[in-house]
Amino acid sequence: MVMYWGQNSYGAVGSQENLASYCTDSTNDIIVLSFLTTFFGEGNLPEINFASACSDGSYFDGTELLECPTIADDIVTCQANGKKIFLSLGGASGSYGFSNDSEAETFATTVWNLFGGGESDTRPFGDSVVDGFDLDIEGGSSTGYATFVTQLRTYMDEYAGTKQMYISGAPQCPMPDSFLTDAMTSSYFDFYFVQFYNNYCGVDQWTASATSDFNFDSWDTFAQTQSYNTDAKVYLGVPASDSAAGTGYVDIDTLTSIISQLQSTYSSFGGVMMWYVV
Ligand SMILES: *[C@@H]1O[C@H](CO)[C@@H](O)[C@H](O)[C@H]1NC(C)=O
Repeated sequence: MVMYWGQNSYGAVGSQENLASYCTDSTNDIIVLSFLTTFFGEGNLPEINFASACSDGSYFDGTELLECPTIADDIVTCQANGKKIFLSLGGASGSYGFSNDSEAETFATTVWNLFGGGESDTRPFGDSVVDGFDLDIEGGSSTGYATFVTQLRTYMDEYAGTKQMYISGAPQCPMPDSFLTDAMTSSYFDFYFVQFYNNYCGVDQWTASATSDFNFDSWDTFAQTQSYNTDAKVYLGVPASDSAAGTGYVDIDTLTSIISQLQSTYSSFGGVMMWYVV
């Protein structure tokens, strides 16, 4: 079970709690901090935005990069409770992307030093090291993402003796994905958190007969035959409430049926991703 956290999308019916409060029970395995919204900002450093969750933060000098002490502490708490914490890059708004592969390679080094196992004076989460990185690319171009993933994975592989880290992508369900298909077919992702919502191929189109526009079957085929990592796992991405996305919400009984069907039909099925914590 994967949950996105950080954009206060729960706002429609409440307010997001501190990260640590989602790490006390067994309802989720991976929490994805969303988002790193700008790649090359002031001082050539990125920008992050977690809505209300970094209101105790301040910018590092000469940058618009927030230092988030509460999130830093909460990452430690969550990891101690067995949760994996990913940082998501991109999102529905923001200013991100690469002009070329050399920028992508440079940025992989920056991300590693700021949030991964590298070193920097400007680490937003202090000594905490995230467990993975997620690409939720919804704008710009596809340029550089394969290079970015490959370079980042080089660092992760060197660090594997300290801890195993992961890379995920969050494409939308229509295929091919405008921004990530190139990277998914030429660089190594562990997980695809596919957004089966806000689209004609969403989970709301599922029917028991399996002849519908809901296209998990295409993603299963993609993962096993076209994906660079043919063992990559596909997650069923759903909105966590009827106000979390424009379309795609299904009630829990329907979702339960869908999950059991996917689990018994598709070997690439990895689990469920929910857009925002509940
Ligand atoms: C890549 O793009 C950046 C920014 O536009 C530019 O400064 C740099 O010269 C480019 N590098 C290559 C190798 O094309």
